[in-house]
Amino acid sequence: MPWYNDCKATVQTDVPLAPKTWYQLGGPARWYCEPSSIEELAELIACCHQEGIGWRVLGHGANILVSDAGVDGLVIQLTHDSYCETLWDGGLLNVGGGVDFPKLCKQAVSRGLAGLDRLAGIPGTVGGITRMNAGGRYGSVAEFVQSVDYLSPQGQQQTKTAEECDFSYRRSNLGDGIVLSVAMRFEPGDKESLTKEHQRIWKEKSVEQPPMALRSAGCIFKNPHGDAAGRLIDACGLKGHRIRGAEISNRHANFILAHPDARASDVIELATYAKDRVQSEFGIPLEFEVEIW
Ligand code: EPU
Repeated sequence: MPWYNDCKATVQTDVPLAPKTWYQLGGPARWYCEPSSIEELAELIACCHQEGIGWRVLGHGANILVSDAGVDGLVIQLTHDSYCETLWDGGLLNVGGGVDFPKLCKQAVSRGLAGLDRLAGIPGTVGGITRMNAGGRYGSVAEFVQSVDYLSPQGQQQTKTAEECDFSYRRSNLGDGIVLSVAMRFEPGDKESLTKEHQRIWKEKSVEQPPMALRSAGCIFKNPHGDAAGRLIDACGLKGHRIRGAEISNRHANFILAHPDARASDVIELATYAKDRVQSEFGIPLEFEVEIW
């Protein structure tokens, strides 16, 4: 009898993950589920905990590289409406973990609320964005977070204040928790100037970074303290460097692009090569920003 037999949620087997990620690479999930309520999710997680089954939550796959072997565990996606609610109350927001972050940024701007205009062009779900404290040159999401509701790895619903999440550059301590919803707070701003700023940042990114239509997962490495991974890889002369189907972008050296014939192992090999070169030329250890599954 399969381990999930007593769970209400529908679990599928051998589900391809590549189409669910921006890289469109990698193998299948041994088990896959889109639970239709928090209760179903909690039951599933509690069951995994009991049976020793590993699980991961997939957002929109914008910062993930699935290995060619795939995931030998359960992959969960919070696509159901119950994780995708957006409740505004003046400058206060309660937003589901499954909500699309770029759409949320647009909504905040059109409501004349300041802050998310500066986080234009960051793909992903609210849950994924919060968990990794995603951001860019003009700030990161933690600036707006008041508290996070999450499911513990044992399947219990809990809340952490922003302080308890211990946010820092591209990091929080929510690692093992599943973000259910996030409370955020924004100051009012001038709708017209927020719209302009939002559009300006989109344009800036489209000039400095490879087009979103090319397959990547954004920046492959975190920036080391006081420097930029892109600058370091560029200084090693690696722009355009290729290993089989993977290529370091000519526009921004912290992006590794996947060509149609690429395999996940090509991207990993090229990233490892760039990391080794930066280590030997500058003595700086780069750390992956992209999660490799
Ligand atoms: N640089 C180079 N060569 C390159 C790329 C960059 O010399 O090929 C130099 C730039 O000239 C600049 C410095 O490196 O002096 C930093 O580059 P940039 O301003 O493009 O920013 P970044 O630090 O590389 C960060 C975020 C991006 C975000 C941008 C813009 C990280 C790892 N990256 O990039 O986020 O879009 O700022 O806000 O923090 C991501 O997280 O996936 C991501 C793309």
